[in-house]
Amino acid sequence: MYLKDQIERIVLFNIARGSFRLADNITRAFAYRVYREVIAKLSDNEIFELIDAVTGGLGYKGKELDPIRMSYCGSIIAWPEAIPSGGRVLEIGTGIGRTCYVATNWAKPSLYVTVDNSPIILAIALYRNPISAYQEALHKEVVKINLCDAIKIVNVMRGIIKFDHIIHDGGPNPQRNPRLFNKEFLRSLYNLLREGGTLSLFVGRHKGWQDKLFTTLRELGFEVHSVSFPDTPVLVFHAKKKA
Ligand SMILES: C[S@@+](CC[C@H](N)C(=O)[O-])C[C@H]1O[C@@H](n2cnc3c(N)ncnc32)[C@H](O)[C@@H]1O
Repeated sequence: MYLKDQIERIVLFNIARGSFRLADNITRAFAYRVYREVIAKLSDNEIFELIDAVTGGLGYKGKELDPIRMSYCGSIIAWPEAIPSGGRVLEIGTGIGRTCYVATNWAKPSLYVTVDNSPIILAIALYRNPISAYQEALHKEVVKINLCDAIKIVNVMRGIIKFDHIIHDGGPNPQRNPRLFNKEFLRSLYNLLREGGTLSLFVGRHKGWQDKLFTTLRELGFEVHSVSFPDTPVLVFHAKKKA
């Protein structure tokens, strides 16, 4: 999509100059246009199908959204206890704002930079979110949204900013999106963290990927703890960069 590429270029241009506010403004304006031209015309069922297709599901089972279960899983992924008051957070994978809701309600970051490459999901998240609390979280002043490929934006952020906490929920999962889980990308995230900073990585249920990602994080210099969802073999790794 030509216009999407143009928006991404403008986002990257502004991030390179440290202007998270302008990158956020252009992202929201474009997401609103996608909402008006596409999303507003869809049925609730079509919205639900789009959310499923883009995110791979958000911690619910079956065809009904389950906000309590979703937010519980979102809490494990966001790991808000690790966010220092006034800290800076980077999120890979905005989705519909479930993890943003947890992180900005249970912690008090001064900046929450979030990235997603899907205009459709951002339009739903910001303007037709099935969960109003998630939508409200994405409209908080501290939240700066970027329509961009995560690999490109992370490369541009090098030397511009350091984060206290990174939430990597870019997916749907490592198997279906391996370029966001290779060692090079994880090293870029490691380098964006301050000393002693933390990373929460959605790892999924595939045993081979779980082992591989555990080893990769350790090799990069993280201390790693594994956390599981209550009733599935899905894992999230909570990792700390040594101080
Ligand atoms: C599991 S969902 C995120 C859910 C979100 N954290 C929440 O709790 O609502 C994964 C998201 O990653 C995004 N994504 C996939 N590949 C990406 C990429 N290369 N760059 C940026 N975002 C990407 C998808 O569009 C999708 O919205």
